[in-house]
Amino acid sequence: MADNTPLFFDRLISDARSIYIGAIKMRPLFIIMILGAALVLSGCVQPPEEPKVTERAASGEWTADGVVSENEYSKSMVLVAPARQGYSGGSMEISWKNDQEYLYMALNGTARGWVSIGFDPSEWMKDADIVMGFVNSGSVQVLDEYSTGNYGPHLEDTVLGGSDDLLEVGGRQDGGNMIIEFKRKLDTGDRFDKVLVPGEAVSMIWASSDSSDHDFKHDVAYGEGILTLSSVDEAPPAAANALTAREIEGILFIREEEKVARDLYQAYYDEFNLTVFSDLARSEQSHMDSIKIAVDKYGLDDPVIEEQGVFTNQTLKQMYDQLLASGKQSEEDALKASAAFEEISIIDLEKELSVTQAEDVRLIYEGLLAGSRKHLRSYVRDLQEMGISYIPRHLNSGEYNETVS
Ligand code: HEM
Repeated sequence: MADNTPLFFDRLISDARSIYIGAIKMRPLFIIMILGAALVLSGCVQPPEEPKVTERAASGEWTADGVVSENEYSKSMVLVAPARQGYSGGSMEISWKNDQEYLYMALNGTARGWVSIGFDPSEWMKDADIVMGFVNSGSVQVLDEYSTGNYGPHLEDTVLGGSDDLLEVGGRQDGGNMIIEFKRKLDTGDRFDKVLVPGEAVSMIWASSDSSDHDFKHDVAYGEGILTLSSVDEAPPAAANALTAREIEGILFIREEEKVARDLYQAYYDEFNLTVFSDLARSEQSHMDSIKIAVDKYGLDDPVIEEQGVFTNQTLKQMYDQLLASGKQSEEDALKASAAFEEISIIDLEKELSVTQAEDVRLIYEGLLAGSRKHLRSYVRDLQEMGISYIPRHLNSGEYNETVS
């Protein structure tokens, strides 16, 4: 990791100095951290559940009948959100396939009221291109919407002056699960629909509710993730020798760096019980899955060790330990350390983008970069709501202002 090491070390050392007085020298902290690791290893602290993208040949015919059959979609993943205050908890299976022109998608979620997906939000729900489905006594309604604010409102595109671009829709209720299917153009030409591009990753949010009231907030589950659309001209199987040593190093590094974020936010959630941490820990899991696609595709050895706080790369391990120690002082410190980590992540992803030629890997990095910028905005906003103005620690002020504004 020679190329990445100085960047991290510089930042780690200056971070550790400015945030905390020489964490390395403070033995009590290490004892706490060792106890923390023992707690994790004892199984008391579970990492968030891992959504895996399953791929298969979409050889079957697509029909909007509310039945997701064996070979109807080329990709699927199951996202899970646990029960907690205000949410009964549940899962959402998203299945999709695309060709050069159309996206075909199914949502199968724990819900009796509505299920929904939103493409490419700029922050929380804001600017998400939403598809929201209802099944009521056998009648199915699937709406093409757009969220104009962070907590909605999400209005039908037609109300906002756009068009309804869902070409075929269907759905059904199956016990406690609602299933909807829809087809739309990748590029509908409507300014309230995001342009989806074959081969590209798109960030998304999802939510579900037991109330069939369109304006009643999700009360079953919500979450976020990344979807990758298939490229139309499937590339020949990739081999590791298609990448340079530096590119391989970058992929393995970013894979573990995303795990630092996941484990850190999970640890902060266990400490402070703030939902932003559990939400973003889940999101980081989907970032880890996204870069795992490149690890698998190029036949690389996955460096990830599943246990929370355990890393193959010792530079990342040190960064995790130091951020954990500094953030555990208070909610404010945890939010600031998380924002600082997202800044580092942005810089590292930009650095990898500058040295990577492989188009598929670049697309993954771009998806992760959009995710990190979104997370930085979330932490900065949460601090603002506590009356605290976050001062960037790593990004220059121009890039920082552009990211959060
Ligand atoms: C039906 C009307 C809706 C209302 C009133 C609403 C309101 C809210 C509110 C108040 C929050 C802040 C967190 C909380 O209080 O639990 C939130 C977060 C969220 N909502 Fe909605 N929402 C609605 C629909 C949707 C839909 C349709 C989606 C999915 C497409 C969605 C996805 C999300 C996500 C992913 C978050 C978490 C954002 C984050 O923490 O980054 N919401 N919503």
